Amino acid sequence: MKLINICGTRPNFIKIAALMAAYEHYSAIEPLLVHTGQHYDQRMSDLFFRELGIPQPDVNLGVGSGTHAAQTAEIMKQFESYVLENRPDAVLVVGDVNSTIACGLVAAKLGIRLIHVEAGLRSFDRTMPEEINRLLTDAISDMLFCSEPSGVDNLLREGKSAESIFLVGNVMIDTLLRNRDKAEDSPILETLRLDGGDYAVLTLHRPANVDDPDVLAGILAAIGEIQRHMPICFAVHPRTRKLLAQNTKGPRLEEMAHVRLTDPLGYLDFLKLIAHARVVLTDSGGIQEETTILQVPCLTLRENTERPVTIQSGYNELVGMDPDRILSGWKRATNGSAPTGSRPELWDGRAGDRIAKILSDNV
Ligand code: UD1
Ligand code: UDP
Repeated sequence: MKLINICGTRPNFIKIAALMAAYEHYSAIEPLLVHTGQHYDQRMSDLFFRELGIPQPDVNLGVGSGTHAAQTAEIMKQFESYVLENRPDAVLVVGDVNSTIACGLVAAKLGIRLIHVEAGLRSFDRTMPEEINRLLTDAISDMLFCSEPSGVDNLLREGKSAESIFLVGNVMIDTLLRNRDKAEDSPILETLRLDGGDYAVLTLHRPANVDDPDVLAGILAAIGEIQRHMPICFAVHPRTRKLLAQNTKGPRLEEMAHVRLTDPLGYLDFLKLIAHARVVLTDSGGIQEETTILQVPCLTLRENTERPVTIQSGYNELVGMDPDRILSGWKRATNGSAPTGSRPELWDGRAGDRIAKILSDNV
């Protein structure tokens, strides 16, 4: 089976790493790797290939940034030519970014089998660009690999056939478990002058949080208060860096003595950082899952999550964007007793292998 695998953004690289490693054990699969170029900064792309040992892509489409329509259209144009040249048996997409739906549409319209990994997740919030990408990609996919039971339920409710749905576990967690020991060698805590168990980590990049200056100002006000009690490492996404530079509302991060601002961190540094944090504040999808496995309390700065199993596990709490709610969530997470919870079903480091086996059996 000639299988084109798509990656384009930071979380895609982390997921695709697990799949590329798994294919090595299945000779029936001949994988090709396409990088769309949606993320391109060294710290958002190359660093992950190097650290995670991902093979160099067979092609980088180099599409870069743009509006949703421009970026999606550019990926489609470039990817269509590549598919016509290479004639794959199937195309595999992961996650919910613009590269996912763009390449998915190209495959479906050329009549090529489309496989979606991380299928069925739903926030039920169509103001999120990712929710549109998830709904549309699943609607046109032939094989749907789910990371948690809610994904299976959502797909069945939307009318997908039970034979096309497979609950396989979480490829992002495969990569975490594979790198957990290695990450311990990272010197990041010393570099940032942080003591294990005594600091918070923050990431922010959702348009709903960073594009609206009033919402961003409210979040910054909560951060300003929390850092008076505990140092905070804020690993700033390039989208957010741009918006923070333009933002004139709310307190200034540079004036917060206990906030450590960093560029986006490499995978191993970031894994070590969150593994030893007292609490993580984030609007990331993947980080909600990683903290669940690391058993670190996570405050999700959103009103909903497409990953409900992380809430059921006891380690994730939705606190929205209101400063008072963020602060009371932080108090609960840091004052109370540590949550106890169980590892979600099949988040055991073998999701990639299950996917590769199913694909190999269905050549
Ligand atoms: C994208 C995904 C989002 C995912 C996130 C992971 C979509 C619609 N969004 O959001 O679902 O959670 O990636 O990080 O696909 N930029 C750089 N350098 C880069 C990449 C981006 O400077 O390497 C800046 C550019 O100014 C760009 C902006 O970030 O315009 C946004 O990039 P884009 O890929 O469009 O969306 P993300 O916010 O990164
Ligand atoms: N991550 C990283 N360095 C950082 C921030 C995040 O390596 O500075 C990793 C994180 O561990 C997770 C992934 O990037 O595996 C999440 O990506 P992101 O939050 O950008 O996207 P999302 O998961 O929200 O789509």
